[in-house]
Amino acid sequence: MCGIVGYLGSNGAYEILIQGLKRLEYRGYDSAGVALVTPAGDLNVHKSQGKVANLEQVAAAGCIDGSLGIAHTRWATHGEPNDVNAHPHVSQSGDIALVHNGTIENYSVLKTALEEHGYSFKSETDTEVLVQLIDYIKSTSNCSLEEAVREALLQVEGAYAVAVVEKNDPDKLVVARKSSPLVIGVGENETFIASDATPIIGYTDQVIYLKDNEMAVIRRDQPLAITSIDSNIPSTIDIQKLKLSLAQLEKGGYDTFMLKEIFEQPNTLRDCLRGRISSDCSHVTLSGVELNKEKFLQAERITLVACGTSWHAALIGKRLIQDFCKIPVEVEYASEFRYGNPVLNEKDIVISISQSGETADTLAAIQLAKEKGAFVYGVCNVVGASIPRNTDSGTYIHVGPEIGVASTKAFTGQVTVLTLLALAVGQLRGMVDSETVKQVATALKAMPKIIKETLKCDPEVQNISRMFTYAHNFLYLGRGYNYPTALEGALKLKEISYIHAEGYPAAEMKHGPIALIDHEMPSVIIAPSDSLYDKIISNVQQVKSRGGAVVAIVSKGNTAMNDIADYCIEIPEVPECLTPLVASIPLQLLAYYIAVNKGKNVDQPRNLAKSVTVE
Ligand code: G6P
Repeated sequence: MCGIVGYLGSNGAYEILIQGLKRLEYRGYDSAGVALVTPAGDLNVHKSQGKVANLEQVAAAGCIDGSLGIAHTRWATHGEPNDVNAHPHVSQSGDIALVHNGTIENYSVLKTALEEHGYSFKSETDTEVLVQLIDYIKSTSNCSLEEAVREALLQVEGAYAVAVVEKNDPDKLVVARKSSPLVIGVGENETFIASDATPIIGYTDQVIYLKDNEMAVIRRDQPLAITSIDSNIPSTIDIQKLKLSLAQLEKGGYDTFMLKEIFEQPNTLRDCLRGRISSDCSHVTLSGVELNKEKFLQAERITLVACGTSWHAALIGKRLIQDFCKIPVEVEYASEFRYGNPVLNEKDIVISISQSGETADTLAAIQLAKEKGAFVYGVCNVVGASIPRNTDSGTYIHVGPEIGVASTKAFTGQVTVLTLLALAVGQLRGMVDSETVKQVATALKAMPKIIKETLKCDPEVQNISRMFTYAHNFLYLGRGYNYPTALEGALKLKEISYIHAEGYPAAEMKHGPIALIDHEMPSVIIAPSDSLYDKIISNVQQVKSRGGAVVAIVSKGNTAMNDIADYCIEIPEVPECLTPLVASIPLQLLAYYIAVNKGKNVDQPRNLAKSVTVE
C-alpha cells in the first residue's frame, strides 16, 4: 500500500527516485509524485494521477535538479486518485514536503484544530494534515525539522512511514516509521530510503531496517542518527547485507512479471526446498522447528492466520498439519482473528503466512497472539520484513521477489513450506510413519522437475483460454486438498481478468451455486486421481447435465473424464497432499491468458496492491 523512496547524496536525485518508484509500483499505482530540493534551497514538486510514466511526462516540463528528494507511488485510501491527492504534500507555507505510507486515524480532529489556526487544505488526504501539523509546530516553536516531525508524530494516531524534506535545507532528510516498513540504504556518500529494499538494489547492499517507532535524521556528510520517536534515545545502528540482485527484479525476457514468476516455479521451489530434506528423503529439517522443539511438542492447537492467497495456502496447511501431526488446526483471516477475541494460551502456536511480511492485519494478528501468550511462527518470503522480525521464529519460503500483484510462486512456496513444516512437526511428535515421510519427501524433492513437466500444459491452456475470454462468471470446484486450490484459482481469475469467479467445495455446489449453472457459466473442476476422485466425477456430471461447460484438471493418463468434461488438462500424478502444488499451475496460466486475451494489465490489476499495509 503506497511506496515511498528518498535520496540524499552526490548524484541527481530525480532519476534514482523515478527508478525506485517503478520498482515500488507494485505497492500502488493510483498516482505518483516527487519533491526535489535544489542546492539553492528551492522545492520543486511534480505529481500526477496514474502510473510513474505519467509523472515522468509531467516532470519533464519542470525543474528536476537536486541531490535531495522524496517520492511516492499511491494506493488511495483517503481521497480519490487524482493529481491533488497525490503525494508529496506540501505545507501551506510551501516550506515542507512529505510522503507517507499508512493511515492517520485522528486526521479529522487534527485538521479541525489546524483550520482554527488558519490552515486550509487542498486535498482530501489524511497525509496533508501531517505536513501542515509539522509546519505549524515548526513555525510556532521555532524548532528544527526533526523536532517538529517528532512532536507531530507524537500527536498522530495510526500507521505511518514518512519521509520529510525542507525547502531551505538541501542537506537533510528526516524519516520515521510506525507499523509501516522503511529501509535505509547506506552507500558511499549517499543514503537511500524506501518502503522496501528493491529501489536500493544496485546502489548498495548495506541496509538498515528501521524499527517500529524509530526515526532517522540523514544529513549530508554526517553520520546517520537514529532515535526512538517517543524518547529521543539513540538506537543502535544495525547494518545488514542485502542478498537481492538486480536480475531478480527484471522480466528476464517474459512479457510480464506474472508469466515470468509462473515459469520460475521449478527454480523457486528448488530454492525453497534446498537443505530441508535429507538425501535419502527419510527426514525433513526446518531450523525454526528444530530450535523450538519444546513448543511444537507441547502444542495443543495450531492456528494459521493470513490474508488473500496466503490464506488459501493456510487452508492447505491445515489439512497437511492435521494429517501429519494430528493436532487440531484452525485457519483464520487475520483481519477477523485480530478483532475476534481469540482464546489462546502458551500451548497455542499461531503461524502467520505472508508473502510480503508487511500485511497490516497479519501483523496485528501476531501482535495479539503474542500478547495472549501464544508462540508465534512466521512463514514469509521477504527477508527482514516486519513479520519475520516480530515472530518468535519461522521459515522463509525463499522464492525471490514476487512483483506481479497476483501471487503465484509465493503461493506454491508457502504450500511447500507448510508441507515441510507438517512433516517436520509430525516426525517430532511421532505422528507420521516413516513410509509416508519418505513418499511425500521424495515427491517434494522431485517437485521442481514435476512443475517443469506441468508447465508443458501452457499452449493447451492458452488455447482453452480463448473459449472463455468473454465469460462473465466462473465456478471453480474442488474437494479435500483441492477445495483451497479452487478458491485460489478463482481468486487469480478475479484479480487479473475482472471476471467474477467463485471457488466452492464441489459437493456444496448442489446447495446453491448449481442454480447459477447454464451454458454461460463455465466450471473449472480440479479432479486429480485422489481419494475423492469418484465423488467429484458425479459433481462434474451434475454440472454437465445443466448445460455448463467444464474444464477439468485431471491426473495424467486418467481418461475417464474425457467423455464428460469439455476440456481436460493433464497434470503429473503426485501424492494426494501435493496435488494443490501441481494443480495450481494450469489455474495460474488459465487466469493469465484470459486476462491477456482481454487486454488487461496482469502485473498491475486495477484497485489492487501487492503489499497491503492498511487495515
Ligand atoms: C494482497 C495481494 C495478495 C496477497 C495478500 C496477502 O491482497 O494482492 O496477492 O495474497 O495481499 O499478502 P501477504 O503479503 O500477507 O501474503
